[in-house]
Amino acid sequence: MTDRRHEIESLLVEGRSFPPVADAVHVRGMEAYRALAAEAKADPGTFWGRLARELHWTKPFGHVVGAPPPAVTWFADGETNLCANALDRHVAAGRGDHTAILWEGEPGEVVRWSFRRLLEETCRFAAVLTSLGVRCGDRVAIYLPLVPEAAAAMLACARIGAVHTVIFGGFSAPAVRGRVEDAGACVVVTADGGWRRGKEVPLKPAVDEAVAGLACVRHVLVVRRTGSEVAWTPGRDRWWHEERAHAPSFVPAASLPAEHPLFILYTSGTTGKPKGILHTTGGYMVGTWATARWVFDLRPDDVFWCTADVGWVTGHSYVVYGILLNGVTTVMYEGAPAHPAPDRFWSLVARHRVTVLYTAPTAIRAFMRLGDAWPQRHDLSSLRLLGSVGEPINPEAWAWYRRVIGGDRCPIVDTWWQTETGMILVSPLPGATPTRPGSATLPLPGIEAAVVDAHGKEVPDGAGGLLVLRRPWPAMMRTLWRDDARHREVYWDRFSRPGAPVYLTGDGAVRDPKDGYLRILGRVDDVLNVSGHRLSTMEVESALVGHDAVAEAACVARPDPTTGEAVCAFVTLKQGQSPSEGLRDALRHRVEHEIGKFARPADVRFTDALPKTRSGKIMRRLLRDVAAGREVAGDTSTLEDYSVLARLREEEE
Ligand code: WTA
Repeated sequence: MTDRRHEIESLLVEGRSFPPVADAVHVRGMEAYRALAAEAKADPGTFWGRLARELHWTKPFGHVVGAPPPAVTWFADGETNLCANALDRHVAAGRGDHTAILWEGEPGEVVRWSFRRLLEETCRFAAVLTSLGVRCGDRVAIYLPLVPEAAAAMLACARIGAVHTVIFGGFSAPAVRGRVEDAGACVVVTADGGWRRGKEVPLKPAVDEAVAGLACVRHVLVVRRTGSEVAWTPGRDRWWHEERAHAPSFVPAASLPAEHPLFILYTSGTTGKPKGILHTTGGYMVGTWATARWVFDLRPDDVFWCTADVGWVTGHSYVVYGILLNGVTTVMYEGAPAHPAPDRFWSLVARHRVTVLYTAPTAIRAFMRLGDAWPQRHDLSSLRLLGSVGEPINPEAWAWYRRVIGGDRCPIVDTWWQTETGMILVSPLPGATPTRPGSATLPLPGIEAAVVDAHGKEVPDGAGGLLVLRRPWPAMMRTLWRDDARHREVYWDRFSRPGAPVYLTGDGAVRDPKDGYLRILGRVDDVLNVSGHRLSTMEVESALVGHDAVAEAACVARPDPTTGEAVCAFVTLKQGQSPSEGLRDALRHRVEHEIGKFARPADVRFTDALPKTRSGKIMRRLLRDVAAGREVAGDTSTLEDYSVLARLREEEE
């Protein structure tokens, strides 16, 4: 963190700044941005209402913003259907033949689904889900590789008012089980497997393990992707291709109240259990549609590629919903970024004439290390805009992205947001905002961000503090699934006053005194951000403590040149157990098995004691120092010093 801040500081001194482009179509120039922001500030209801009316409502709304958060509502008396807005609306407007999904499998097949075709597939999914007993309000879990059927299944749920919970295909069976059970899903949509680095990632076996004995799950709908043999539970399991064959190609879209639940997406929180973030229909639709249009300055012939998996919020908002709502072609690529060669991404951009590329800093850094030659082999001239999301992007990676991928021609939009926010909240607009390496720049119109101290008081510009949001926005989360008390406690209670709700983001930020630009400094709580994936220290710790040999575990992040942060686990063993390489591997493997490969600790350090406060709280700050420090020779020695130090400090208080 200190290093990163230092880097940014030095580049700011350098004063590198890049002007907005002249040919933007939506928000043209700083004045236009300011006018929108002023309009939104003066009268949010009129502002968001005007935007929302550009979409189709089966019952027009009268009210825009309802009760203040945490119990916020948007467009509450209106009815609409998000799927109809994303698909039927474009078909009716004569764009049925336009490509909606351009998909490439890892082995190389290319599939194009027009808006008409995607509508048909979606309707078939909707009909099959209905025939399997799914009703409005029921939950459907989607655990698929990145295939077009994933988008169709999500849209089908939205069409009939079922609530989807997409589970990233990299999660292991126990993680799937926890989510399916918490959501109370009655159907799980999965596949035999998917392709990753030339190998099959089996999914159906994980589902079999995950749902064994779960009463809520009545059916498992299986998409055939790899063709490999799978175990079958007759009655429960159904092949998608068989059900599809006799499903109708059109079913009407349900007229749903704006506040009807759209999806639950599980994300890591500061305490053990993942949080089920709940988003609803109308506000999420308006928010993702408007922000996709502003931030990516979308045009009808764009070929938009967001490289995220649909298992994360970025995939929900900017692979599927926000992009299709704008009638734009969305690219999906199933596999690993550097398979079969390090230029897979660039070959894909060139072959499909991708115009906007939206990816994560961890990927950019990985490509940067592979060298300029790989992208330089390909014609990347179709690109007009680059985006970054998921974690702070260091200025070096930003500059490389702009120069090597963007040919010094494409602006970079560094977009800050969260699963909870549903839509991008802080980002440059390509036609309005001069950009600077490492800065997410300004809040979007309608967003009021502030940087405050531990008491909720605004800090002076230039000083670091907690990033908070003081005005509701349409795509904001509504609650945590079946845990509204936790929703209030985690996000609202700390700084809100009657009549003045304050949303706590959990991120640190600094506002630049010169121009108000925000620099996001990353998490300030016990949430790790590895390769742009949020992980709670508690989840990893629970997995470790579940091992017979382990007495206690504490995980912290340490800086990592590629993944941004890496998980470093400190482990104390039970009496009679001794550290070994074998045990270290077993612990890593356990985390992989319980959560998924992406959560596997980079370091496992054995120690005799963990530094704690008198109340027993692990002093993570000290552990972070140890984890980030120059290579600690003997695992235990330094830590013991620290724990002694910690005890001494305690004594002094
Ligand atoms: C981090 C992903 C700096 C941040 C959309 C946030 C960022 C968390 C940026 C949310 C950015 C996301 N600059 N940090 N442009 N974008 N983050 O829920 O810490 O997976 O709180 O949503 O990622 O992660 P989530």
